[in-house]
Amino acid sequence: MKKILITGGAGFIGSHVVREFVNKYPDYHIFNLDALTYAGNLENLRDIEDRPNYTFIKADITDSTVISSIFIEHQPDAVIHLAAESHVDRSITDPLAFVMTNVIGTVNLLNAAKDIWKDNYEGKRFHHVSTDEVYGTLGSTGLFTENTAYDPHSPYSASKASSDHFVRAYHDTYGFPVVVTNCSNNYGPNHFPEKLIPLCIHNILNNKPLPIYGDGKFTRDWLFVIDHARAIDLVFHRGANGGSYNIGGFNEWQNIDLVRELCKQMDEKLGRPAGTSAQLITFVKDRPGHDLRYAIDASKINEELGYQPSVTFQEGLSITIDWYLNNQEWLDHVTSGDYQNYYAKQYS
Ligand code: NAD
Ligand code: TYD
Repeated sequence: MKKILITGGAGFIGSHVVREFVNKYPDYHIFNLDALTYAGNLENLRDIEDRPNYTFIKADITDSTVISSIFIEHQPDAVIHLAAESHVDRSITDPLAFVMTNVIGTVNLLNAAKDIWKDNYEGKRFHHVSTDEVYGTLGSTGLFTENTAYDPHSPYSASKASSDHFVRAYHDTYGFPVVVTNCSNNYGPNHFPEKLIPLCIHNILNNKPLPIYGDGKFTRDWLFVIDHARAIDLVFHRGANGGSYNIGGFNEWQNIDLVRELCKQMDEKLGRPAGTSAQLITFVKDRPGHDLRYAIDASKINEELGYQPSVTFQEGLSITIDWYLNNQEWLDHVTSGDYQNYYAKQYS
């Protein structure tokens, strides 16, 4: 049996990756290692938490002693590393937290794996999940490729760039078996409502303003989270050792157009007159250092590994909105803070 340790598995993307692996690979044992910060929510994994091939471990990757002892005890064959501080706006007010988790935490995991694998890397893999934000910003044309030079601007992207460099340095220096994926903005079920799409869904439901930074012409390339989990599965199993893969949606939207589309679908689904939700759109002060445009050239993963998105953006957005409408309890627990009691109820 292959033992795979997934970090950050209680978060947004991590929970979809954990579910994909637990369901698809009954012969693997999946360890979900997560500190349960404000972004970690075990309610995301209710449907699989009792599976025999799944174990949750509460631990903080900034604590090297604890991380080493977990690796010694469980002897994972592979790591899929998603744990991170992930919100750009928080990185502007507290950069150090991003250095601690994203940089130091990543190096702690590399060291813990290197120590137990003892230079015998047959059948071993460290898959590091990163972001397209490490490439900096595009102008109105062009796409990020795997060869685009790193040029991070926010404390978040600087910390992720640093962690990517460490992962590649371990490959180049020690022959450590790594693969790196850099993905675009994800959306979908279980997204914490501090990010643009779930924040707007939450605010529309509660008749609150929809804050659009600056003129709203900033562009992101939106990737459906379940497709991202499938892409991680492909790269984890078939990506070249030492390789990098960009994962994107070929799906660029200016923020203002995306929020208008979201308002339109919400009005239809809620049976409200067209234009009701859009009245909540409010232009607010811009984010400092706001990158103008991200867009990924995902042809490498498509050509080498046959990756194709399974849904169009209209379908993915519709599935996402339906999920929030059908899971208002999840949203209520997140906004009330009640989700943070779930660990105590399930695991103490
Ligand atoms: P998230 O914020 O939803 O979840 C992060 C998870 O990591 C949480 O469960 C949290 O409890 C855990 N965590 C945080 N600090 C920890 C620590 N010190 N020790 C152990 N666990 C800790 O993040 P996400 O959106 O799911 O992103 C997952 C990964 O994907 C991150 O590495 C992020 O940089 C990357 N990424 C995300 C996006 C996106 O659109 N969300 C885009 C590109 C890349
Ligand atoms: P976000 O979801 O925070 O992801 P990221 O900063 O990693 O791209 O933001 C997506 C885009 O939406 C980004 O251009 C910032 C913008 N934005 C708003 O206009 N208003 C908001 O309230 C938020 C959270 C983001």
